[in-house]
Amino acid sequence: MKAEILAALRETDGYVSGQELCNRFGVSRTAIWKAINSLKAAGYEIEAVQNRGYRIMSAPDILNENELKSIQKTEWLGNTIYYEPVMSSTNTRAMQLAEEGAPHGSLIVTDRQESGRGRRGRVWETSAGTAIAMTFLLRPQINPNHASMLTLIAAMAVAKGIEAETGLQVGIKWPNDIVINGKKVCGILTEMSAQVDYVNHIVIGIGINVQVDEFPEELRDMATSLYMELGQKINRAALIEKICEYFEAYYGTFLVTEDLSAIVKEYDAYMINRNQPVRVLDPKEPFEGRARGITNKGELLVDTWDSRRLVSSGEVSVRGIYGYV
Ligand code: BTN
Repeated sequence: MKAEILAALRETDGYVSGQELCNRFGVSRTAIWKAINSLKAAGYEIEAVQNRGYRIMSAPDILNENELKSIQKTEWLGNTIYYEPVMSSTNTRAMQLAEEGAPHGSLIVTDRQESGRGRRGRVWETSAGTAIAMTFLLRPQINPNHASMLTLIAAMAVAKGIEAETGLQVGIKWPNDIVINGKKVCGILTEMSAQVDYVNHIVIGIGINVQVDEFPEELRDMATSLYMELGQKINRAALIEKICEYFEAYYGTFLVTEDLSAIVKEYDAYMINRNQPVRVLDPKEPFEGRARGITNKGELLVDTWDSRRLVSSGEVSVRGIYGYV
């Protein structure tokens, strides 16, 4: 009931009377009072005025099911939320939950990730209160070969969500690093369980540096956080909600054509390494060229001195000639 009370308080700018809450949820005034007190204890600032009712003044930056549910505007993504304060990895947890039958659109979130995983076997650390570590669990009826395109859709959703919540100018380093002022603020790891022609489930893990105020020496040139770029803290739950809304919209258009034709132009406009010299670290034969944009399938178009080549995201990593971007 706490999530519903929070949602009711957020629906209006003014006061909501205790009686209205009682009627709405079919409980006693004491039950409402207890729920309000427990929300206050969790850090919500709620004003109570006699004869007027309750008014929410501010919300803490917490990531639990009540908070996420009370601001949910999506249709299906996040209808089921699995929140635990500590997880080894939201992707690993999502894979387990998928095996146990968790539904399409489940959102798996934690505050502290102890063994978060990045691409190419890297580690992704998330300490409490500083970041977003979340995973979308999807069960799309698509060709498994098309699954990698969902990563680019997630990147678009994150870029748009961050822009909407912070006003910062955000770029995407193909395929799915989110970059601000030349430094990485978010990484995405997509994993899949599939048969040859059938997807069992796909998990899309998103890690965003939000309130981080310092990085270890070796990451300082490459990594940044929203706090470091904006100079103020932002509400993580609100950002998660925005990203989910964008993801739902992009996913809907993706399912119609099963390709990225609807977002290629928009994606290219966000692509930070577009028209930049890049080094494609193909294990068989690394090469250099100029990145030109993406195809409808999400491959990177690279013009070398003598030809145009298509690069698939699963196979290689792409670096700037002069640094990370
Ligand atoms: C990268 O290497 O850029 C991808 C990093 C992905 C990290 C996220 S955090 C949430 C989810 N759970 C994980 O274990 N990894 C992803």
